[in-house]
Amino acid sequence: MIHQPVLLKEVLKFLITDAEGIYVDGTVGSGGHSEAIAEIVCQKGGRLICIDQDPDAVSFSKKRFVSKEGVKVIKANYKDMDIVLENEGIEKVDGILLDLGMSSMQLEDSGRGFSFLRDEPLDMRMDPEQPVKAKDLVNNLSEFELSKIIKEYGEERKARLIAKAIIRERKKEPIESSLRLANIVSSAIQDKQRRRHPATKTFQALRIAVNRELENLKIFLENVPDLLKKGGRLVIISYHSLEDRLVKNYIKKWENPCTCPPDLPYCLCGKKPLMKRIIKKGIKPSESEIQRNPRARSAILRVAERL
Ligand SMILES: C[S@@+](CC[C@H](N)C(=O)[O-])C[C@H]1O[C@@H](n2cnc3c(N)ncnc32)[C@H](O)[C@@H]1O
Repeated sequence: MIHQPVLLKEVLKFLITDAEGIYVDGTVGSGGHSEAIAEIVCQKGGRLICIDQDPDAVSFSKKRFVSKEGVKVIKANYKDMDIVLENEGIEKVDGILLDLGMSSMQLEDSGRGFSFLRDEPLDMRMDPEQPVKAKDLVNNLSEFELSKIIKEYGEERKARLIAKAIIRERKKEPIESSLRLANIVSSAIQDKQRRRHPATKTFQALRIAVNRELENLKIFLENVPDLLKKGGRLVIISYHSLEDRLVKNYIKKWENPCTCPPDLPYCLCGKKPLMKRIIKKGIKPSESEIQRNPRARSAILRVAERL
């Protein structure tokens, strides 16, 4: 299934400040956002660097943009964007987009166990070169560690019950498939009131842990001010409150980096603001977008500009 880009109009409006500029899509996926960005910038001699850590997304997007002048698709982790740009001979860019989370292609066609509705090997790595699979976590972590991941990354209230059930079931036989894990979780927390599948949050938590999603985002946010030209924009779409909180806190820190004690009458540390927020509150998709594309449901977009 082709991935529908989320908040597309808003991304274009806030990301592109110079149609002749250089842009980076750090999470190209199947290229929905990139296609629209390229449509604007590549006509005027601008450039677009597309990055993804998933080789399937990279080969899909390479084919999609094969005849598009000015677009280059590269397999990399966006946390290494500084190295990617250096290799391309680019010092600073006009805009960077991250559309976090996973794509419909990964969920539905990857065969890597992202979906609790399919019987696939329990892998969940976006980058198959990474060492840890979901089954490694599920079969080797302690009850405490599993419960912590499921609670924190999945925001699952019944994390302890789920972790207990996983430990009990893996003693019978290692848990190797997505469907077996989904069934274990469903039987552990039979809850008729849930609107979503009972394993939704557990699967989300494992995916975040396997792909070190928060760690990657943090490394990227530490480096990103150095990658943007003055006036360059950073646009991030998050789907999880922990991601969004990280983005929000970095924007706050960039706007006010002063580390002097609050009672000091003037600043002694000399740290100057690096970026400013462009929109006060995060933008959420409209009801009609959510109806057309339910994946957009939990999206929130934030924008900051390099000073
Ligand atoms: C929500 S999808 C992006 C969809 C895309 N905007 C589109 O319109 O088709 C997220 C993509 O980000 C990629 N991704 C997630 N974390 C990444 C990382 N640290 N580095 C590079 N790519 C990453 C995933 O592999 C996935 O393809």
